[in-house]
Amino acid sequence: MRLPFYIFGGMEQFTFIDLFCGVGGFHIALESLGGTCVFASDIDEECRKVYFDNFDLEPAGDITKVNEKDIPAHDVLCAGFPCQAFSKAGYRRGVNDPRGTLFFDIVRIAKYHKPKYLILENVRNLASHDNGNTWRVIRYNLRELGYNVSDEPIIFSPHYLGIPQHRERVFILCKRKDLGELPSFTFDKKNRPASDAFSILQPDDEIENLKKYRLSKREITLINLWNEFLIIVKNDLPGFPIWSEWLKELDDIDYLHFYPKWKQDFIYKNSRLYSEHKTKIDSWLVEALKNKDFTGAKAKFEWQAGKVSSPNLWDTIMHFRPSGLRVKAPTHYPALVAITQTSIVGPLKRRLTPRECARLQSIPDCYKLHSTDRIAYKQLGNSVNVEVVKMFAKLLLE
Ligand SMILES: C[S@@+](CC[C@H](N)C(=O)[O-])C[C@H]1O[C@@H](n2cnc3c(N)ncnc32)[C@H](O)[C@@H]1O
Repeated sequence: MRLPFYIFGGMEQFTFIDLFCGVGGFHIALESLGGTCVFASDIDEECRKVYFDNFDLEPAGDITKVNEKDIPAHDVLCAGFPCQAFSKAGYRRGVNDPRGTLFFDIVRIAKYHKPKYLILENVRNLASHDNGNTWRVIRYNLRELGYNVSDEPIIFSPHYLGIPQHRERVFILCKRKDLGELPSFTFDKKNRPASDAFSILQPDDEIENLKKYRLSKREITLINLWNEFLIIVKNDLPGFPIWSEWLKELDDIDYLHFYPKWKQDFIYKNSRLYSEHKTKIDSWLVEALKNKDFTGAKAKFEWQAGKVSSPNLWDTIMHFRPSGLRVKAPTHYPALVAITQTSIVGPLKRRLTPRECARLQSIPDCYKLHSTDRIAYKQLGNSVNVEVVKMFAKLLLE
C-alpha cells in the first residue's frame, strides 16, 4: 500500500533512485513531485524495514555490494551519503576514510547510468573539510562524469523556510551537461519567514505514554538551579559558556597557561562574571554543590537565546549536551542528531516526541515511524528535510 505522498505539481513524471535511503526523506520529496522510486538501498536493517512499511519497496543492503548493472535506469539519483568522514564529530578523514569512499559508489553508479540529475546532501562541514580539498575532489569527479556542478556547494537549512529546525547542510545539485546549465539559486536569508518552535508540537492528550517524554524531578531541579543563576546575571547574560568550576577568583595555582588560548578566554570571562556578582553567586554555588547531579556537563551552561529582559529557562528550548545545558530562543530547535539527547520544550517540561521530530524534517504525519523511540530518533536525526529537498528538486527538474 502506498502512502498519499503523491501530489503532482505540474512536473513531468520521472524516475529516481534513493541511495543511503534511511527513512526516505528524498523519497517523500521526489514522489510528491511526480517521481517514481525504482531502487533504494540502506545497509541498516531497521531503516529498510521502516522504508518498506511506508513505501512498499524493499531497499537493497550495502551499496558497495550492489552491481550498478542491477540498478534500474533512472532520471534522478538522490543520495544523502554518510557523513561521519566529514562530520565535525567524526575523525574527519574525508574521502580517505572508508566511509568517505562511499561517494565513489555514487560515482560508479552515475557513470554507468548517466542519470539526468544528481541531488546529493551532506553535513555542512563537507564544504570546508580538509581546507576545501574534499569538496574539490567531489566536484572534480562529478564534472569528469559529465555534470554541471556549481563552484561551491549550496548550504541551506530548513529554518530559512520557516521550518523550526536549524540544520545547515550541504546540497550538491548536478545536471548532465547535454541538458544545459544549472539553474542559478539565490535565496534572501534576511527576509526569510519567521519560525516558531511551538508550531510542530502535538497536543499532550494526543501523545501515547506522555510520561516517558516528561522531564524527571531531578532534571527539573537542575534546570531550576540554572534558572536561579540566570536571575543573578540577568543584566549580564553570558555570551560564553559558563563553567561553574571557574566561577571564582583566579590565583597563581590555576596554571592557566596550560590551557589553549580559547579556553583561557572563557575562564577569564567566567571569573570576571563571578567577580561582578560575587556575593550572589557564592550563595548560589553553595546550594548548587549540594545537588549531586550538579557535576560534569550538568555543571555547565550555555545561554544562546540572545538578549531578553526577564530570562526564564521555562520559556526556552533546552538541550542537555556534553558541553552543558544549552539554551535557545523558542524560534527553532537545534539540528536533530542521531547521537545526542532530544530537545526539551521548556513550557511543556518535556522532550520532543518522535512524531514532533518527524515534523521538524517535514515528514508527514501519515508516515509510520519506527515503534522503538530510540531507533526512531536516530533515524530522524540522520534524515533530510523533505521541504528543502523538494525545493531543490523543483529548481533542478522544472
Ligand atoms: C545520512 S543517512 C541518510 C538518510 C536519508 N537521506 C533519509 O532521508 O533518511 C546515511 C544512511 O546511509 C546508510 N549507509 C551507510 N553505509 C552504507 C552502505 N555501505 N550501503 C548502504 N547504505 C549505507 C546508513 O545506514 C544511513 O541510513
